[in-house]
Amino acid sequence: MPVEAIDTPALLLDLDVFERNVACMATAVAGTRVCLRPHAKTSKCPVIVLKQIAMGAVGACVQKVSEAEALFDGGVQDIRITNEIVGATKIARLAALAKQANISVCVDDASNVHALDDMALAFGIRLPVLVEIDVGGNRCGVDPGEAAVVLAKQIAGSRGLRFAGIQAYDGPAQHIRSFEDRRRASQRASEHAQHVVGLLKRGTLSCETVTGGGTGTFRFELESGIFTEVQPGSYIFMDLDYRRNLEASGAPAEGFEQALFVYASIMSRPVRNRAIVDAGEKAISISAGLPLVADMPDVEYSRVSVEHGRLTLHDEHRELRIGDKIRLVPGYCDPTVNLFEWYVCVRGDRVEALWPITARGALL
Ligand SMILES: Cc1ncc(COP(=O)(O)O)c(C=O)c1O
Repeated sequence: MPVEAIDTPALLLDLDVFERNVACMATAVAGTRVCLRPHAKTSKCPVIVLKQIAMGAVGACVQKVSEAEALFDGGVQDIRITNEIVGATKIARLAALAKQANISVCVDDASNVHALDDMALAFGIRLPVLVEIDVGGNRCGVDPGEAAVVLAKQIAGSRGLRFAGIQAYDGPAQHIRSFEDRRRASQRASEHAQHVVGLLKRGTLSCETVTGGGTGTFRFELESGIFTEVQPGSYIFMDLDYRRNLEASGAPAEGFEQALFVYASIMSRPVRNRAIVDAGEKAISISAGLPLVADMPDVEYSRVSVEHGRLTLHDEHRELRIGDKIRLVPGYCDPTVNLFEWYVCVRGDRVEALWPITARGALL
């Protein structure tokens, strides 16, 4: 089927670019002693995760138990939940999954360790658990000091659990625009992680894994000498937000290219300088700003409503007719992907495949 025949709104994945992005990450990690465990909160799709694994990734990361279930159903065997899982129902689902696959999880609280241990014993498993430390993101995680050692000792002393290492992820650092400031934020994460690894060693606990890093900082973590694993997600697709990060030269981010687009049709052309597309908030996330119209610098996506997007045409000679189709670059890929059931995978001007987004809407 030709691309122009795709009904809209649709989520387009440019396979040539996607494959280049996956290969670019594989090259960046090759030759280092650091494992690549891409975050699947970006793709929500086991087909994509299996392609990343085929290119050298050791497994996947997820945030939710239900995301882990969707990946496992799609054939992924090694999944790290880079998040705290609380409540008996979710912990039981986690333990049931961990009976069949290699699942690990993060903690930052003693009562949560108890709950995980009780459930692991009930299910007859030994669950690998990492202590999350707060390295500057001010989200989850214990202070990067003795509190981490206390929790690690509790895990190591629990019959149903195994102490598997630490997570040191700084979310806001990924999106710091200045290269130097981003590098400094990553260095701070490495120093905190190194300090905790030292304290653990003094407490005779070995720390097999130090995991963290995303698309914005992974190159620094690869060089840190302390991280054993990186968790970038967005690099496979890119988005407007990541394109705002700068390289050391001050130039826009290089290396990864835009692979994911929302395909939309012009549905109304009321006046000369205005066109309306059929992709509004139900088709594209605006949490990181309005989308960009690909290949048309003179056309601005200037206002969004639930079912409509308004385009302002700054060039009076621009031809845009009812039924014409355009590609929109999302501000933020993860929540945009969450709005669709399928990737429509295109190569050149042809549709090559449909990949189901089976971890879409995985809230639990
Ligand atoms: C714990 C964790 N690791 C890794 C990532 C991946 O980050 P990115 O998509 O920015 O590469 C995220 C994203 O939010 C995350 O929360």
